[in-house]
Amino acid sequence: MKDLFLGLDVGTTGAKAILINSAGKVLTSATSAYSVNVPAPLWSEQNPEDWWTASCQSCQQVLKAAGIAPDDIAGIGLTGQMHGLVLLGKAGNVLRPCIMWNDQRTMPQCEQITCDLGYHRLLRLTGNAILPGFTASKILWVKENEPEIYVKIAHILLPKDYVRYRLTGEFATDLSDASGMSLLDVGNRCWSAAMIRYLQLSPEWLPQLYESPVITGTVSKKAALSSGLKEATPVIAGGGDQAAGAVGCGAVRPGILSVVLGTSGVVFAPVLDWRYEPEGKLHAFCHATPGVWHFMGVTLSAAGSLRWYRDAFCQSEMREAQKQKKDVYDRILKPLSDIPAGSNGLLFLPYLTGERTPWPDPHARGVFFGITNRHNKPHFTRAVLEGVAYSLNDCLQLIKQANLPIEQIRVTGGGSKSVLWRQILANVFNTEIVTVSSADGAPYGAALLAGVGCGLYKSVEEACDETIKLTTRITPQKQISELYDSYYQIYRNLYPALKKQFEQSSLLLS
Ligand code: XUL
Repeated sequence: MKDLFLGLDVGTTGAKAILINSAGKVLTSATSAYSVNVPAPLWSEQNPEDWWTASCQSCQQVLKAAGIAPDDIAGIGLTGQMHGLVLLGKAGNVLRPCIMWNDQRTMPQCEQITCDLGYHRLLRLTGNAILPGFTASKILWVKENEPEIYVKIAHILLPKDYVRYRLTGEFATDLSDASGMSLLDVGNRCWSAAMIRYLQLSPEWLPQLYESPVITGTVSKKAALSSGLKEATPVIAGGGDQAAGAVGCGAVRPGILSVVLGTSGVVFAPVLDWRYEPEGKLHAFCHATPGVWHFMGVTLSAAGSLRWYRDAFCQSEMREAQKQKKDVYDRILKPLSDIPAGSNGLLFLPYLTGERTPWPDPHARGVFFGITNRHNKPHFTRAVLEGVAYSLNDCLQLIKQANLPIEQIRVTGGGSKSVLWRQILANVFNTEIVTVSSADGAPYGAALLAGVGCGLYKSVEEACDETIKLTTRITPQKQISELYDSYYQIYRNLYPALKKQFEQSSLLLS
């Protein structure tokens, strides 16, 4: 019986497929990993072929694990890492590795575009400032640095849409993901003719735009053979990982905020009437709910900071966890219960790959501040969790300043599995934090969007109401919140104090 939906997330570290039934229950999931290449400082690239291979593997694994026939899948929803530049030639061939969302090489191109068009005009045209992570400046970088590649461009795609192309043969994207390209007139939900003209792009290079729950094509015979999926299964437009993740936790109405503790960290607030943040510090993008927008602040290294810390300093914990088949993060975070909130004055700035919100600066760097001879390893670990929470608080403060309602904060992403990290967030935000029944965020949201596209639910809101339940609540602890507020005041002054030195030291390295 065709009553299952597949969500496929082309993420930063792997492709994850999840299968849900018509009640929204997750039957099974599978992830196949791939790596990020760093060919030069500040660069991040991936091979699109790896996404396709991993996507096929994950689809095959979920089909096998669930013991279902491919024909039982009624529809597929795509989601993935945003902003990446995938360039294809006329024959659909990949012209160069994808320049990813966290690649920071295009500062000069961003400055050029901002200088030519003017900061406020850019906000009017695209709702957003031009940032190195976004797609448009990467196109300009290729034009200036790899002209032999540029002349061969026939198609420009985002990561999940490359997988769509391999699945269905269609060149299509959705409005939430397209919002992060600096090429979309976000307010009018269409490509920006002015940006296309300014960048001298051929309009036919850009994919067809759809609202997220709309069917864009069906699985081709060739893709069915590689993925194990059934030929002719509908594929819906889906959404960028943050918009799909917000659907996956029910943040589809004003007042319900989504906070993500993934590789990157996000504070996401739905907005019903189009507007952008006048200073351009928050992103203003289309939501995966048709006709709705959202504001969003991004911490580039959130759970990514803890992963870096694990890899750099926790070899023995990793060995032990592997031996005992236990979760390595449980081992790393266990000694933290003895460390007081505030880490005895040790502060961490999580700018390991530069930052976006509120300081869009590729030169910003990670910092431990306030080290004394009283500090030992668990203080540093706790400071990492707290520093990420302060950084997300920077985003939340901007959302408050934009006068958006805040009724409930729902936290998802790998980092949200830690009760301690959730309690730190509740205390730093001084707000209750809740978790929801699905921990799968973006791929779960993509599967729900497929349910809407295939007619199981009347709307994205209905899909969320019928499937997503609150599971835990953590309330702030008054005294600790006050202490965190004092440390946050110190934290927020550190970047402005160090800005110049970040730039000087980054230039020495390049
Ligand atoms: C959002 C963003 C990240 C990436 C990778 O603007 O850059 O969420 O999509 O997760």
